[in-house]
Amino acid sequence: MRTKHRKEATTTEQDELNLTPLQKECVWNFLSGEFKRLNILEGSVRSGKTYISIVLWCLFVGKYQHGTFLMCGKTLSTLKRNVLEPMVKIFGDNSIKLYTSKKEARIFGRKVYLEGAGDIRSENKIRGMTLDGAYCDELSLFGEEFFSMLLSRLSNKGAMLFATTNPDCPAHWLKRKYLDNPKLSLLDLHFSLDDNIFLDCDYIENLKREYTGVFYDRFVKGMWVAAEGRIYPDFEKSKHVIRKNAKLPELALATVGVDFGGNKSASVFTLTGFTKGFSSVYVLEEHYDKENKSAENLIAAFRQKLSFWKQKYPMLRKVYCDSAEQLLVKSFRSGAPPGVEVCNALKKPINTRINMTKRLLGSERLFVSSSCPHLVNAFENALWDSSKSFDLRLDDGTSDIDSLDAFEYSVERFDKELFRF
Ligand SMILES: Nc1ncnc2c1ncn2[C@@H]1O[C@H](COP(=O)(O)OP(=O)(O)OP(=O)(O)O)[C@@H](O)[C@H]1O
Ligand SMILES: [Mg+2]
Repeated sequence: MRTKHRKEATTTEQDELNLTPLQKECVWNFLSGEFKRLNILEGSVRSGKTYISIVLWCLFVGKYQHGTFLMCGKTLSTLKRNVLEPMVKIFGDNSIKLYTSKKEARIFGRKVYLEGAGDIRSENKIRGMTLDGAYCDELSLFGEEFFSMLLSRLSNKGAMLFATTNPDCPAHWLKRKYLDNPKLSLLDLHFSLDDNIFLDCDYIENLKREYTGVFYDRFVKGMWVAAEGRIYPDFEKSKHVIRKNAKLPELALATVGVDFGGNKSASVFTLTGFTKGFSSVYVLEEHYDKENKSAENLIAAFRQKLSFWKQKYPMLRKVYCDSAEQLLVKSFRSGAPPGVEVCNALKKPINTRINMTKRLLGSERLFVSSSCPHLVNAFENALWDSSKSFDLRLDDGTSDIDSLDAFEYSVERFDKELFRF
């Protein structure tokens, strides 16, 4: 039945707005006045939440002759990538105009302000606004204070909020204080991956294979579940560890991630190789120093290791360092061999990085050389901290967070290349 739907969906003319059954139901609910003050579209990844939320938001904004509207993402650039650009694709650049440098857009001629929720200045900016409507992309990533302030700004009669989110842990503020609060005027629209008939069946099967454990429950099943126990139960030495001098496929790029140690933590450099087309990831070398004798010592070790690694892996081009230690980064920059650029690591949220690693492990595209025993050990022993009401990996000295950080810095930039949607 589903395959039939998929076929029909792909043979429809491009310009026609074609919706999934659940998306049609949302439009029907909206048009028949069933939407509430707060409307939250939540559930699995790629399930069609953003697409339909865009359609509804534009219908909502378009109803007003005059009104004040705000759209927020975790950052302006994620808002642009996740929502504004798809909006232009759906309605065309005659109907949707983007002026992101001015933090504004026009939706069917109506002015809409744009903000990044993670920016402290944005919080001050929205403090003075009186809104008719707000749109939030990936709401669970916003701070609770920002969101409650945003709600206090939705004070005009008939004002509405439209938000999309993936599930998080059940103790997350959004679940506890909003989705589970029967006193609120809130419509909870739940989406699951199989609802999206526009996705290729193979793509869905791949996604299902890639997500494991708590991430499968959240991102594939769309459930709000807690992260408990081992972070990487899917890491198996027999599958994921390769012999030190095993013959490798040709590498197209190698990078090094650097985590700087402190009093109790280690300094780690981790070298990761990527095959052509980013089809597989090989962690091949590590330098682990728990003593942290002095900065000079560390700089000397970096010079020596990097020059050796550059000879062994000529495709080594980038080093991504923990940006917390700018003086060390500067010294590393001057100590790097020719052809190797030293940059700051992005340091994406830990959950984003963990998710990326789990997807690579789940799809059997990540391999670690036995010459990296600390990282192997770290994958085997990393635990979720169950004492917290949000996802956190345990950092009480029992597991090796430093090796995980260094590895993650070496791969985190390549999410687009590794997971092409
Ligand atoms: N009605 C539709 N017509 C055409 N394509 C669609 C439709 N609905 C969804 N899609 C496509 O399916 C993919 C996933 O949809 P969307 O981005 O809305 O999912 P999502 O639930 O917001 O996912 P995530 O949680 O990962 O942000 C996108 O490429 C989108 O363009
Ligand atoms: Mg989305």
